[in-house]
Amino acid sequence: MALLTGKVALVTGAGGGLGRCHALALAKEGAQVVVNDLGGARDGSGTGAHSPADKVVDEIAALGGKAVANYDSVASVEGGERMVKAAVDAFGKLDICVNNAGILRDKTLAKLTEDLWDPVVDVHLKGTYCVTRPAYNHMRERGQGGVIINTSSTSGLNGNFGQTNYGAAKAGIWGFSRCLAIEGQKAGIRVYILAPVALTRLTADLAGMGEMKDKLDPALVSPLVVYLASELAKDQTGTTFFVGGGRIAEMRMVTAKGVTKTDDGGLWTPEEIAARMSEIVLPG
Ligand code: NAI
Repeated sequence: MALLTGKVALVTGAGGGLGRCHALALAKEGAQVVVNDLGGARDGSGTGAHSPADKVVDEIAALGGKAVANYDSVASVEGGERMVKAAVDAFGKLDICVNNAGILRDKTLAKLTEDLWDPVVDVHLKGTYCVTRPAYNHMRERGQGGVIINTSSTSGLNGNFGQTNYGAAKAGIWGFSRCLAIEGQKAGIRVYILAPVALTRLTADLAGMGEMKDKLDPALVSPLVVYLASELAKDQTGTTFFVGGGRIAEMRMVTAKGVTKTDDGGLWTPEEIAARMSEIVLPG
């Protein structure tokens, strides 16, 4: 039996790039899939198109799988609710929610006007909230557990030039997911965070990506999504994974051993902090 036989998955932004690969990989393992995609441009502009989601539904059908399309924006509460309803209407339930939809509007902070900030935070961070909440509540009400996989980025977790908007949203997704992993434990709902790297339309014009074409196939990211969605991963809720180019590695927020001042009521002077800084920061 395939790993996800009998499971129902929703993948947002699944009309292309990583989301398409995740949807196909989940379907190949037996999951029935809601393929969500608004069909907009790389920067989120335009009125949207049905064709990207429809094409992926057709690809899944051609493999002998089952899928339905949804064209809502992840950035609206009603849109998120309709995606979960689409899963319930078509397949009776939702077990796996992969928040993947994304856009870019890169500029350094000096030039980062509100029209470049709001849509990026709306699609990534608010979008993760809008879709996850109805998915999570549905899973809780069913009482059969579930899996939520949220897409962050090294741009948010480590930082990157020209992406304060995107980095803030992606780091926000990380914090959201870390909190939800704790909240979801009682209901058996597992939550994971991805920091992927792949050559897609989102990254095609970034320096050096073209030469990495063969190594950064987005399909190389999806086996981790399938693993996390399956029962094989049941012990790692809350984990963050870097994944891409054949490499998978856990990423963690770490706290150094640090130094505790015990005299003077724990009140440091700036000079004392300067003198002990090598013990306060992490080595290396
Ligand atoms: P992509 O541009 O190929 O795919 C994103 C998809 O999301 C598109 O099909 C687009 O139509 C859809 N989308 C955009 N706004 C939407 C909305 N409001 N509602 C529904 N769908 C919407 O990009 P890619 O690279 O596949 O990105 C997927 C995710 O992975 C994004 O969250 C991105 O930030 C993240 N990511 C990608 C990396 C990479 O190296 N490609 C690196 C780090 C993170």
